Amino acid sequence: MIVALNNKCNLTKEEFKEYQKELKTITSKSKLILCASPLNIANFNLSNVSLGSQNVSKDDNGAHTGESSAKQLASYGVTYCIVGHSERRQGQGETNDEVSLKIARLLAENITPILCVGETIGERKAHTYEDLIKEEILSATSSLTPEEKSNLIVAYEPIWSIGTGLIPTNEEITEVFKLIKSLLPTSKVLYGGSANEKNIMDLKACPLIDGYLLGGLSLKPELLEIFLEKLEN
Ligand code: PGA
Repeated sequence: MIVALNNKCNLTKEEFKEYQKELKTITSKSKLILCASPLNIANFNLSNVSLGSQNVSKDDNGAHTGESSAKQLASYGVTYCIVGHSERRQGQGETNDEVSLKIARLLAENITPILCVGETIGERKAHTYEDLIKEEILSATSSLTPEEKSNLIVAYEPIWSIGTGLIPTNEEITEVFKLIKSLLPTSKVLYGGSANEKNIMDLKACPLIDGYLLGGLSLKPELLEIFLEKLEN
């Protein structure tokens, strides 16, 4: 299993130091990835966890104020990077075209992209979610080689589930996972959106899930440990 932690815009320098002390003690059979906030990337010092970023510039090094390039991330030991998170698509207007450029930059630096896809509640109700997810995936991956596709991780995160405490039914998850795996049969697919130590036993019943992307729970190491224990036993 892959368990990716999305700290989002949380943890000051001091808090991150304390947080890492707690994460250091976690033993897990899963592949753990910490997508730290940009400033905390420089202070990452764990050996039981891989380092991830939450975003990357679509451009290479150069005159791009405020951006961090894939080259820079790689030089800090980043080996995974979230792209197209719904908070960036909605809040920063990140487009499918930009997501595709970002993926190319990451792959050129041997950083594994974690491509986020998922629908709003309106899109689910209107039954347009399948077309939307298909478009998010095809636009991001159409120029990739088969090998690059198999190195990509996809995270299905229904927007109505992120941070809300609501999770889709196993049937709803299975339907979308089947769609994603029909488009990218060799990619690992994660579930994200309010996954926690309470609902993991229900989610675990979905056989297609290759791992999880955790937001809120990533900030609570003691509950994360319970989550991992339940997931792995
Ligand atoms: P959540 O966030 O686990 O807090 O719902 C997941 C995410 O946004 O990646």
